[in-house]
Amino acid sequence: MPTLFDPYTLKDITLRNRITVAPMCQYMAQDGVPNDWHHVHYAGLARGGSGLVVVEATGVSPEARITPGCLGLWNDEQAEAFAPIVESIRKAGAVPGIQIAHAGRKASANLPWEGDDHIPEGDPRGWQPVGPSAIPFGANLPRTPTEMTLDDIAKVKADFVKAVERARDAGFQWLMLHFAHGYLAQSFFSPDANKRTDQYGGSAENRGRFLVETLEAVRAVWPENLPLTIRFGVIEFDGHDDENLRDSVALLKKLKASGLDFLDVSIGFCTPNAEIPWGAAFMAPYAHQIKQETGLPVSTSWYISEGRQADALIRTGTLDTVSLGRPLLADPHWPYAAARAVHKNQPAGVLPPPYGWWLNRYQ
Ligand code: NDP
Ligand code: FNR
Repeated sequence: MPTLFDPYTLKDITLRNRITVAPMCQYMAQDGVPNDWHHVHYAGLARGGSGLVVVEATGVSPEARITPGCLGLWNDEQAEAFAPIVESIRKAGAVPGIQIAHAGRKASANLPWEGDDHIPEGDPRGWQPVGPSAIPFGANLPRTPTEMTLDDIAKVKADFVKAVERARDAGFQWLMLHFAHGYLAQSFFSPDANKRTDQYGGSAENRGRFLVETLEAVRAVWPENLPLTIRFGVIEFDGHDDENLRDSVALLKKLKASGLDFLDVSIGFCTPNAEIPWGAAFMAPYAHQIKQETGLPVSTSWYISEGRQADALIRTGTLDTVSLGRPLLADPHWPYAAARAVHKNQPAGVLPPPYGWWLNRYQ
């Protein structure tokens, strides 16, 4: 079995190790355009030694953003501003990835540190959220979304395609569609959020249709030699776990047949009433189960924080890569610390020479 620091190859892309920067919203954009904050942030994460840097949830349209501070890829100005960031990630030795997203009924929210709740109706900073049905999420996100018409669904799929074309042209090499966390795609799959009576609602097959069609449309414009991946919540922890996992596996098999290359296993977050069993690497067993049942290579995040723990998840074949969020915010050089814990010899090799050479020489 490989170790955390062995390269990972998928299609024509090779990651220098199995450590992935999970997508993490920064809420620092204006009009969806990346700026100096994003450039320094993502280049710094790449310099820290991870193999893959996935840029945060990036909206396919203005109303697809979670907050007014979220990134977007619906115009050329945004695409042009991404290109130098992509180049910096590559120059630092990491593969540049991006998560393309639509926030659905969770859209039009205040920044987390300004409330994390829906912007009130009528406030000019906000907009009207949309969803599969006119059912609000609840809790801090009480706004009732507008039920999407068939034309709305077709437009959002087309928006995904255009955003992916821009991501491709900006130089991204790893695409992650955001099908998780209670946002639009995940909410289509949820029987609680989706009460439609047309071909996009009802049976699990119908509720998965939006996801399958979006992936198929994107596959047609995303290069065949580059990984097309999703992040998907395979379970809600809402008391229907077995049914959830069974339906998720069936959908994932269909997505795989439609061109899905890799899966980041996550949580559904479609209900505020979930009982999530938070704990160290608690999603890893689910990720492994999904890997075995679908044959898809997998990653997961959620409380994987120690180098030896991450290495063990790779060495045991539980995961193909590990995805880290908060540990990399706390220390973008986490891979160096992990290499010191896992491989005593030359851990400085995970850092570029201006850092690594000196650390190696005088340890
Ligand atoms: P919330 O942040 O509202 O969280 C839902 C429930 O899960 C709450 O009870 C919350 O507890 C609990 N919770 C969330 N994260 C953790 C955690 N790491 N450890 C322990 N308890 C937790 O849900 P959202 O739908 O807004 O976000 C879902 C997850 O995705 C969160 O972990 C969030 O950090 C992350 N996220 C995803 C984004 C994306 O996909 N674009 C953007 C930003 C964040 P409590 O009420 O005590 O906080
Ligand atoms: C996140 N998360 C997240 N997930 C996602 O799919 N797209 C996103 O843009 C974001 N944004 C985001 C912002 C911030 C500040 C945090 C902390 C988290 C979830 C993240 O990718 C990861 O799955 C979780 O943080 C769990 O991993 P850790 O933090 O336990 O390693």
